[in-house]
Amino acid sequence: MFSLILITSGPTIEPIDPVRFLSNRSSGLTGYHLAMEARARGLGPVTFVTGPTTWLPTGVEIVRVETALEMRAAVNERRARADVVIMAAAVSDYRSVKYYPEKMKKSGERITLELAKNPDILLEAGRHKPRGQVLVGFAAETEDIFVNAQKKVRDKNLDLLVLNEISAANPAFGREANQVFLVRPDGMRRLERMSKTLIAAHIWDEIIALAGRRAEGAP
Ligand code: CTP
Repeated sequence: MFSLILITSGPTIEPIDPVRFLSNRSSGLTGYHLAMEARARGLGPVTFVTGPTTWLPTGVEIVRVETALEMRAAVNERRARADVVIMAAAVSDYRSVKYYPEKMKKSGERITLELAKNPDILLEAGRHKPRGQVLVGFAAETEDIFVNAQKKVRDKNLDLLVLNEISAANPAFGREANQVFLVRPDGMRRLERMSKTLIAAHIWDEIIALAGRRAEGAP
């Protein structure tokens, strides 16, 4: 059905010295289920660009990366050929300005680490989105979630945003179940709390419906 499905997954890790890095709590489970569901449905070849994770799908092309800059290079090389791009990775927003080639020795009571902003891979993909491509992003919001989500859909030129409301009742990270909203430029749908396997199935239903409308001439 699709000629190339590109999925990003997992966290990125940003090295500080040979033994330390900055990262986040992403398990890579959602990206894993999205890839496995695409395979189970026979939707087309999948390229899975992933940061360090134990959740590696089978039967897909795996591209392993560590940093946001490596993930960006791997995505930019391939995204123009993809008809579906799903960015489920939890990319580190910042990296250490400096890499210390020797292990940093402890020094003062307080130290400062200078961080530089990483490029937003999803934003770049939205800016250069080829005609007909379905671009899917993820967001984790804690306040004004719908206003922020609609803004992200517009700013990043997304066809679909999977919105996690992060709260005590819905911790999301590292859990098998989650409650999400599927946000499109023209509306949104709340999914009940369900397993990440089922969420992946709903996301694919939505992508397939979007791609079908495109095939019928919708923008
Ligand atoms: N993303 C990305 N590159 C980055 C940061 C995020 O491609 N450097 C992608 C993620 O893969 C995900 C979405 O953008 O699809 C997540 O965005 P999110 O972290 O929720 O929001 P931000 O755009 O980083 O904005 P903020 O955290 O300020 O709300």
